[in-house]
Amino acid sequence: MLTQFKLWRDARGRLSALRIVALVLLFLPIALALTAPFASEEFSARPLNDLTHRAGYWALMFVIITLAITPLRRIARYGALVDVRRMIGVGAFCYAVAHILLNIANEKFNVAKVATEIVLRLYLTIGFIGFLGLTALAVTSTDGMVRRLGGRRWQKLHQLIYGIVLLALIHFFQQTKLDIWVPTLIAGLVGWLLGYRLMVRGRSGEPSALMLLGLTVVVTALTFIGEAIGIAIAFNTTPWMVLQMAFDVDLATLDVRPGWLVLAAGLAVVVLDVVRSRLRKPRARAPVAAKPMREMA
Ligand code: HEM
Repeated sequence: MLTQFKLWRDARGRLSALRIVALVLLFLPIALALTAPFASEEFSARPLNDLTHRAGYWALMFVIITLAITPLRRIARYGALVDVRRMIGVGAFCYAVAHILLNIANEKFNVAKVATEIVLRLYLTIGFIGFLGLTALAVTSTDGMVRRLGGRRWQKLHQLIYGIVLLALIHFFQQTKLDIWVPTLIAGLVGWLLGYRLMVRGRSGEPSALMLLGLTVVVTALTFIGEAIGIAIAFNTTPWMVLQMAFDVDLATLDVRPGWLVLAAGLAVVVLDVVRSRLRKPRARAPVAAKPMREMA
């Protein structure tokens, strides 16, 4: 019974390096928050507000990492990655819970006020719906629930993750004031993951390196165009003017448009695919209903 809670051990009870890395990653935001008062003056001014933002940010990051595990394990031919997907998904839920509790604390525990704001402010309503979705996934993440629901129904339900990440992204964009650099980068990366998902849907084989390259080029272009339209609307200028600034790259301050980073990340995946295919290891198979429980969770 107790071995169930030894998260650093795999299904056979052996110490797992992968799980230890995942646990370190999951606790990293807490370590960063604990050291924040020493590292930033801004933190001390409004600590609860800062912590609310941090928890929301990491909830979104872990949702995205959960989403990235299937493409990564297939492209890297590293099937073992699936072992930490459930852990990271539940971690995302825990950060979302912390995000909401910190928000309530920030409002001096006036729960009625928080509830009213969720009803009245669209970006909070969207965040709330995303949270309900995450709760459904967390509650059904146990082996017992997988058994009870059956493989196919469980998988269908867990496809909610795609809707949840979109809601969380809209929530992120809507609360962002003027600087949309980070949300644009994250939207580009999520766009790549959703594009990959659409590409493999209904296909028996895996997408080729060329298809991954095509996806990367399309998503990069969309990231540049989307950012240009957003900035043009915010600053009352034309998207074309903004697009012309795409090549203003300041390497000294690492000031580059998010589209370039999306391109770099996509190209890294293509290189990974080419390298791994040369090593001729069979790819990890796509999850199907008859998979063992550990594989699905
Ligand atoms: C009941 C549900 C939720 C409420 C009431 C809520 C509330 C908030 C509030 C008050 C902010 C700060 C806004 C500001 O200072 O102007 C925020 C930011 C944010 N929230 Fe939520 N949220 C909810 C759900 C979620 C969920 C489910 C996620 C992700 C999975 C999420 C991710 C974020 C992110 C990424 C930010 C921006 C963080 C940053 O500044 O880097 N939120 N949310």
